[in-house]
Amino acid sequence: MTGVEFDETAFAGPEHLDPAYVAGYDRKAAFDPADDVAVLRSHGLDDDSTVIDLGAGTGTFALAVAPYCGRVIAVDVSPAMVAALRAKTSSAGVANVAAVQAGFLSYVHAGGPVEAVYSRNALHHLPDLWKAIALHRIAGLLRAGGILRLRDLAFSFPATDAEAGLERWIAATARETPDLGWTRAELETHVRDEHSTFTWLLEPMLVQAGFEIVEAAYAPIGAYADYTCVRSSGSSEARSRRWSPRG
Ligand SMILES: C[S@@+](CC[C@H](N)C(=O)[O-])C[C@H]1O[C@@H](n2cnc3c(N)ncnc32)[C@H](O)[C@@H]1O
Repeated sequence: MTGVEFDETAFAGPEHLDPAYVAGYDRKAAFDPADDVAVLRSHGLDDDSTVIDLGAGTGTFALAVAPYCGRVIAVDVSPAMVAALRAKTSSAGVANVAAVQAGFLSYVHAGGPVEAVYSRNALHHLPDLWKAIALHRIAGLLRAGGILRLRDLAFSFPATDAEAGLERWIAATARETPDLGWTRAELETHVRDEHSTFTWLLEPMLVQAGFEIVEAAYAPIGAYADYTCVRSSGSSEARSRRWSPRG
């Protein structure tokens, strides 16, 4: 070990640490997790299953999946997000969601391997080296055959099209005011300060970590990717040998 550590809180996005921003988060960033729940159920999620949601935010997915599984562990590095998630869970009277303040790289799982891991719009907070390490950690949380449903802002255009591709995405996505969505300034900050990568870099990382990508969907705008992945059963050493660039 080198002793190098990555400060996940410092890279969590200052807005996610701000209780005022978090209070308005659901209005700004609402989404419907029904398809995600359906995908996990189609891959065997049931009342005995445990789901870990990494970068859970205010818990939209965690609360939606809770009726369909035994236990949800909703993990987020931001104390403000975790507080909001706990308040929502308690006011909804949901007993099987536990909120944990931790990150992709620091979460320590106490139980046995789980059936499913979910993460939406959070992995991009890690630079690629740490993404790859986080994906290996996620594989280590899952039982063989377990499911990773990963959704993130990742770009599916080639590097040669980056300038035009980023502008296409920003122009199509930007809203006038920050309470209704993301403004041009916020989207530009995302590209400059956060670590959204290309799909064609993220996918080999998933495979290297020991996942088979069984479904990949890209938004037509060239940004946002949704993956359904199955954790394969080979040892990580065998996988590393298989994916060594020298063969
Ligand atoms: C854009 S929000 C997405 C929240 C939620 N998944 C959703 O889709 O609404 C990103 C979330 O990731 C969290 N986050 C950032 N870096 C993280 C890390 N290294 N580990 C865990 N959570 C992280 C932030 O605190 C924030 O709640």
